Amino acid sequence: MNSLKQIAAIGAAMLAVAGTAHAQSQQAQDKQADQYDAALGQQAKTRAAKAAGQGISNEKFPNPPRIEDSYPLASDADRQKSSKDLQQTVVDLSALFNDHKQAHWNLNGPLYLPLHELYQEQADLYRKYTDVFAEREMSLGYSVDGRYRTIAATSTLPDMPGGYLTDNETLKLLIDRLTIFQKKTYQSMREVESSDPVTANKYQDLLYDVDHNLWQLRIHVKQPGGLGQDLPWAAQQGRDRTGK
Ligand SMILES: [Fe+2]
Repeated sequence: MNSLKQIAAIGAAMLAVAGTAHAQSQQAQDKQADQYDAALGQQAKTRAAKAAGQGISNEKFPNPPRIEDSYPLASDADRQKSSKDLQQTVVDLSALFNDHKQAHWNLNGPLYLPLHELYQEQADLYRKYTDVFAEREMSLGYSVDGRYRTIAATSTLPDMPGGYLTDNETLKLLIDRLTIFQKKTYQSMREVESSDPVTANKYQDLLYDVDHNLWQLRIHVKQPGGLGQDLPWAAQQGRDRTGK
């Protein structure tokens, strides 16, 4: 063997040694990674077992192979019916909120302070309910349209007049709008009460407050005929209840 061949053989031997060392190092790294994964897996199992014992986490259940959107109502037609009512309610509640703020700001007269505060309180309530009904609509799988342009274009409530208003004017304007809203909301509740009792239940909650607020507004403009006598409209209550 000449010297060149000797050098080549030595080089090849060195490469072989280096290759073996590299392979051994890679095996060691792989083993380390496997141990690390095993330790992580064990930690996850321990956490899941602990959570399962305490009943506090979804880790105790494996993920299902497929997660589908599921809606609580019997049919799409039922969902559409609820969604239509819910969208209208969101729009009208938003309008009611604005109407009460308009009255709250532009109010003049001797009843300024109590009415100013009452209108704010009632406006806050309608805003709170807007969120309840909007999120119910989302739960049923529909988006909500709460844009100002949509409120202006689709609300069933008449617009409030601009400019200053007397205390008496604000009462009559709000009673008028809230009465329209009350009738529409009773109608919505009846429409969904068998197909979507959860939404109907929220309408019941809302109507409790609407009836209450309407009574509180009407109190300011009632003129009883005298001590112990019926109020002027009491005789018409039977007719009013039928909505005719
Ligand atoms: Fe204010």
